Amino acid sequence: MDSVKKDLGIRPVFLKDYIGQEEIKEKVRIFLEASKKKGKVLDHILLSGPPGLGKTTLASVIANELGVNLKITSGNVLDKKGDLAGILTSLEEGDILFIDEIHRLNPSVEETLYPALEDFKIDIILGKGKSARSIRIDLKPFTLVGATTRTGLLTSPLLSRFGIVLNFDYYDTVSLKEVIFRTASILEADIDDQSAEEIARRSRGTPRIANNLLKRVYDYALIKSDGKISYSIAVEALEFLGIDEYGLDSRDRKYLEILVYKFNSKPVGLNTIASALNEDKGTIEDIIEPYLIRIGMIERTPRGRVPTQKAIEHIL
Ligand code: ADE
Repeated sequence: MDSVKKDLGIRPVFLKDYIGQEEIKEKVRIFLEASKKKGKVLDHILLSGPPGLGKTTLASVIANELGVNLKITSGNVLDKKGDLAGILTSLEEGDILFIDEIHRLNPSVEETLYPALEDFKIDIILGKGKSARSIRIDLKPFTLVGATTRTGLLTSPLLSRFGIVLNFDYYDTVSLKEVIFRTASILEADIDDQSAEEIARRSRGTPRIANNLLKRVYDYALIKSDGKISYSIAVEALEFLGIDEYGLDSRDRKYLEILVYKFNSKPVGLNTIASALNEDKGTIEDIIEPYLIRIGMIERTPRGRVPTQKAIEHIL
């Protein structure tokens, strides 16, 4: 289907197409060139930062720049040593293995990974009980690109095996606007400057959110108007979607309401918030709170989370 093809085309292919994260791109450029110049595989890379900022996209860009294959898996899927061994032995020289949510690897799989990262070897146990024996398999040199929402979630032996650690930060409105214009042109959606700016401002510094909002605003414009995204249509659509001027959705506002109304703006612990919000603790810590902290709506204190004056005024 045509629209599916267009969706696939949204992801940048090479570094030159990748908008924002200038410091990260500069580092990647230098380390890629150096690895080519040395004729050695690129060192293992850890990408950390909130979801939706383009970690997987960057891994695919790096593979494209190097002209190698990319294999994608995730820490919570890779739960057997045998599965990891299967993937590792299938890699060609220089290939990139991307492990998303790498902090979620189980300890035995993680241990299998250490010699693979260090010496490109894995030990496999054949048989059971007395007749069990271990054989060592040589792997072709490869690059692991691991992604995590927070570096602090990794065990120190795993962390120490990454030669390059890149921390992603939220995008500014200027970069998000660029992402929106780029995506709009791929989708052949007509959008003006002011509308792109408004969607950018409400995208929580996150390109994945910007692209999703753009698609939904475009849908709205197609049905409620002539398909052109004008400022008035954009604002109407964002309101329809429940996205406020700070880019907060109903879940974020519910979080703030719990702090302000239920707990009278006194410090509240994560567990209490999680049960009041009926939300998983990880989602709160990795997705909801980082942005609220970033825009100065909450503070994390030793006694718990507290809303700021800005948050109190916002939800009153
Ligand atoms: N789409 C999503 N993120 C992007 C980025 N950083 N650059 C270009 N296009 C994108």
